[in-house]
Amino acid sequence: MPTTSEPTYGGIFDVAQVAHVELLSPDPQGTYDFFTKFLGMFETERHGQSVYLRAYEESYHHSLKITESPKPGLGHVGLRARSPEALQRRVASIETTGLGVGWTDGDLGHGDSYHFRLPSEQNFELFYDVDYYDVPEDQKSKLLNRPQKRPPTGVPVRRIDHCTFTAPDVKATREFLTDHLGFQAREQIVSDDGSVEIGSWMSTSLVVHDLAFTADPAGLPGRFHHVCYWYGIPQHVADAAELLREHGYVVEGGPGKHGLAQGIFLYVFEPGGNRVELYGDAGYLIFDPAWKTIKWKESELDWGAAVYGVVPDTFFTVVTPPVD
Ligand SMILES: [Fe+2]
Repeated sequence: MPTTSEPTYGGIFDVAQVAHVELLSPDPQGTYDFFTKFLGMFETERHGQSVYLRAYEESYHHSLKITESPKPGLGHVGLRARSPEALQRRVASIETTGLGVGWTDGDLGHGDSYHFRLPSEQNFELFYDVDYYDVPEDQKSKLLNRPQKRPPTGVPVRRIDHCTFTAPDVKATREFLTDHLGFQAREQIVSDDGSVEIGSWMSTSLVVHDLAFTADPAGLPGRFHHVCYWYGIPQHVADAAELLREHGYVVEGGPGKHGLAQGIFLYVFEPGGNRVELYGDAGYLIFDPAWKTIKWKESELDWGAAVYGVVPDTFFTVVTPPVD
């Protein structure tokens, strides 16, 4: 007789997606130009020192909020719950940890949200209610599953893909996200003796990572590594690399293909100093409900980092905000 068992990761399915990220920028006009002129994103609204942007295949009000600040880094990450009930369940769970900050009445583009801090001290929020962007009639696409016409601007990205951060203790942050928000550890980097978790790639969806964490090079909390936007077509990454370099942007690495998650990557610094990744495809997808976390040893990182193309040393040392 076959037997059944609950998945080892707990089977929490309450968090739907990474809906938006807020980047802090000491050069907000430069950051704005980078995302709008070169990556084809649209401004939907601005308020105070912040401007809200979305990509042409995104249906919400924004996936990126740029806020003027003396230093680059992360403002916050917005996660969307699957339902109002799912939101309440996750808040109750977070409140048992002492990491909850409390409810807010939301922001432009989304309703009431619950703020909390990760063990690694990044600011996160969880909400359900969102505003869908009302696309002007003359900008609607004849492709009914595309909210807005592809813009004739730069090499336009299609949607946000994932965010990566650093953490003083990767394991503690991964366990919090697994136990209280239902993220599943898909791939990891561990020390050769297996005792230390150096990196964790995790998701609540079919992709390998919606969020990832690696050990902070200075052992500091609260820092940001990169936000990734998705093309879905590898050639667009090569086109973006050429366009961005020609216009003076600093391309840090790629085009190349990661071993971890198998994504076609390009890393570039936006003028505010934050790293942005552009993803040429989705890597591989995970359908197995009993997926066993892939563990790369440190000594296997040559393949883990890149199948081809180069991930330079700065990738492991440059994190925002920089150390004073
Ligand atoms: Fe938000």
